[in-house]
Amino acid sequence: MKMPILIHPDPRLKKVCSPVPDLSDALRSLADNMLETMYDAPGIGLAAPQVGVTERLIVLDCIKQEGEAPRPTIMFNPEITARSDATNVYEEGCLSIPDEFAEITRPAEVEVRWIDRDGHEQSAGFDGLWATCVQHEIDHLDGKLFIDYLGPMKRQLITRRMQKLKRDKARG
Ligand code: NI
Repeated sequence: MKMPILIHPDPRLKKVCSPVPDLSDALRSLADNMLETMYDAPGIGLAAPQVGVTERLIVLDCIKQEGEAPRPTIMFNPEITARSDATNVYEEGCLSIPDEFAEITRPAEVEVRWIDRDGHEQSAGFDGLWATCVQHEIDHLDGKLFIDYLGPMKRQLITRRMQKLKRDKARG
């Protein structure tokens, strides 16, 4: 089932999310719905607060080439356990900040530990787009958006454009 995606600014996007205590069928189906919502958008990552659930859950799939098998990834309680000193710059966007993009510098490689859909602990290293995406999504769980890396002027400009977008949407 597709879920509505919250648009910045929204207080739920600024919250520090709580850890998922125990996996349940409800949480698994939330994760499945988030994946469906992400693919439909289309996007390469989505965090639970973006659909109004302030719990530590993200989904991602950074496979973009046609013909390559999709890699739907569900992470409960993801944690970055190591970051490289080397950095990478990607032009980032966010499904909660539609049509806005900015170059953001982040560690080029990260190690992440998480609980998978079956409740098993996993850990893996990520680089390239996957590293950027997983860091962007984990930021969401701490109430942080990619525009928080920009200067105040640029951030306010984007926020004002989003406020206008929401007003126009509400008016229909
Ligand atoms: Ni985002």
